Amino acid sequence: MTELIKELMPKHVAIIMDGNGRWAKQRGVPRVAGHRAGMESMKKIVDHSDKLGIRYLTVYAFSTENWKRSMEEVSGIFKLLVTFVNRDLKELVANNVRVRVLGDYNSIPADARKALEKTLSDTNEDTGLQFNIALNYGARDEIRRSVERIAEKVKAGELEPEDVT
Ligand code: FPP
Repeated sequence: MTELIKELMPKHVAIIMDGNGRWAKQRGVPRVAGHRAGMESMKKIVDHSDKLGIRYLTVYAFSTENWKRSMEEVSGIFKLLVTFVNRDLKELVANNVRVRVLGDYNSIPADARKALEKTLSDTNEDTGLQFNIALNYGARDEIRRSVERIAEKVKAGELEPEDVT
């Protein structure tokens, strides 16, 4: 096996968590079982990225589009998030992994939001791998939120419209 050279590792690796549904279909198991397997792979990738000295790992876990899925599937995905935090938070802290969330996670189920908030605060001082979880993310929503912030600044007289680049 070829040796991996730590110095040549990319600084940032981003992964789209796709294919869970197809994985489940091929095996004749429920879609949520596919998401569970996806979560376990994600956990292994976090461990390996940390060991390989990768600086940032970003996973695209749940987009704004994903709300259109069945209630059973959506709630199954957020239950997995809670399972991950309950089971693995201690280990993340022990490994100095700092968890960040990208996207607007205010509207996710309350137990998942609480679990995430605990994760963010417990790992906030960590200086190792930064593990970004993109949740409830979407290009349209990101543009809307940026424009909203710009409009607020213009309204407050802090920014001139022609200064928007
Ligand atoms: C896409 O696969 C995957 C998702 C919509 C959900 C992935 C999220 C998790 C497994 C939970 C994440 C947990 C943490 C801690 C971040 P798909 O259903 O679109 O697959 P398909 O393209 O095969 O249908």
